[in-house]
Amino acid sequence: MLTAVAVSGYRSLRDVVVPLHGLDVVTGANGSGKSSLYRSLRLLAGCGRGDVIGTLAREGGLQSALWAGPATLGGARDRGHAVQGTRRKGPISLQLGFASDDFGYLVDLGLPQQASGVDAGSASAFLRDPEIKREVVWSGPVMRPGSVLVRRRWGVVETRATSGSDDDWDAGWGGSEGEDESEWESDPVEAPGSRTGSRAAYRDPAPSGGPGARSAGGSRRGRPGWTELTRSLRPWESMLTELADPERAPELLRVRRMMRGWRFYDGFRADAGAPARTPQVGTRTPVLADDGRDLAAALQTIREQGDRALDHAVADAFDGAILDSTVEGGRFDVALHQPGMLRPLSGAELSDGTLRYLLLVAALLTPDPPPLMVLNEPETSLHPQLLPPLARLIRAAAERSQVMVVSHSRALVDELGVVDLDDDDDQDDTRVGLGSPARGITLAKDLGETFVQGQGLLTTPAWSWGTRR
Ligand SMILES: Nc1ncnc2c1ncn2[C@@H]1O[C@H](COP(=O)(O)OP(=O)(O)OP(=O)(O)O)[C@@H](O)[C@H]1O
Ligand SMILES: [Mg+2]
Repeated sequence: MLTAVAVSGYRSLRDVVVPLHGLDVVTGANGSGKSSLYRSLRLLAGCGRGDVIGTLAREGGLQSALWAGPATLGGARDRGHAVQGTRRKGPISLQLGFASDDFGYLVDLGLPQQASGVDAGSASAFLRDPEIKREVVWSGPVMRPGSVLVRRRWGVVETRATSGSDDDWDAGWGGSEGEDESEWESDPVEAPGSRTGSRAAYRDPAPSGGPGARSAGGSRRGRPGWTELTRSLRPWESMLTELADPERAPELLRVRRMMRGWRFYDGFRADAGAPARTPQVGTRTPVLADDGRDLAAALQTIREQGDRALDHAVADAFDGAILDSTVEGGRFDVALHQPGMLRPLSGAELSDGTLRYLLLVAALLTPDPPPLMVLNEPETSLHPQLLPPLARLIRAAAERSQVMVVSHSRALVDELGVVDLDDDDDQDDTRVGLGSPARGITLAKDLGETFVQGQGLLTTPAWSWGTRR
């Protein structure tokens, strides 16, 4: 289970760590950053699918996704002054990460340094494409030098050597790992005129590190205690997709598997041409597609599992209606028998709200529950009367999967029985995990920056981004 999501430098999320408990309900005023949080999780999932750069490009590119305010707001906040641009000390960077019960992962994206020197002549239309500067996988809740399992800087990926230096495995900050810490410190990327942050860094990623001796099997012996998996991972590739290998990097494989299992459902289309309204060739469908095109097959799959919850969810919402499906020439369509109707209604005939509710039913009753399901504003176009049955479905799904719901609807939040995080006096039920009570996470904005309401030093999950060097 994910225990925290951390985002830095993405839209209004300048620096946020959101704790997760099992069933988390994210609310907040318009513009407070809910959708940004949702999208940052999708971006993170993009790393597991090898598509993070593409996902970012489709959002308008890194430049537009980067936090548009100053690097720190402390000065403006203390003095009550207007926000002023200051000289940026750190690198331009969009960082995303999560902590879970067993692993943590973070990715650090940045812009390529303007080509200079030998690079200047290499013309490419993709020179402004963001690059993955750094990725880290660690064990346990917080990244510390001693807990890092696999790390990537530029094109170099190293995994902790399994032989020889096991003594260092659990070392904390300092000690024998002190040397490590400085290696990852201070960013050369933004140093004017420096070539180390350019694409050259990918070709020659460790100018000071000296050549490593290549061992048999293609991997080099890197720094003491580390084994090099590659020196030539390309800027747009994630180590999760390129290097996950049961032999050499089983941790990457586990992290990638988990991230690939995450499911996102966001504003199903319900217009006349919506994929869910058109009969589709169907096969057994344990997982509803994110655009809902295989709705009828997904509902039929649930029914054939003998799950009575489907009939209950439909009858519960539509006055005793009965859901069926029709198959014509291999194409599946839904058929909703409603009281008072002489014939069942097909997908094309359902109202927007009815269709969206059925889509949510299919997503939430999946026979193949994912590790994490994220629903963005599921209440969209549902009549308030449908919110109690929807809340029951979400709560039932949260018994089998971790669920995050982004919602605007006070009624849905109430129906979910949300316990507010900032309710300090109400600490009697602090259970976390599957089936635990719904927790509310309220986002708010201050000087353009999103923060989690009621979050203090003690309630902010421990998180460390580390540095690029
Ligand atoms: N690059 C950026 N830097 C800083 N802030 C940004 C950037 N891009 C967008 N924003 C701001 O981030 C805020 C959060 O937007 P977001 O879409 O996440 O809000 P929301 O909580 O989903 O709102 P709504 O309830 O209206 O859907 C908006 O106020 C937007 O102006
Ligand atoms: Mg939104």
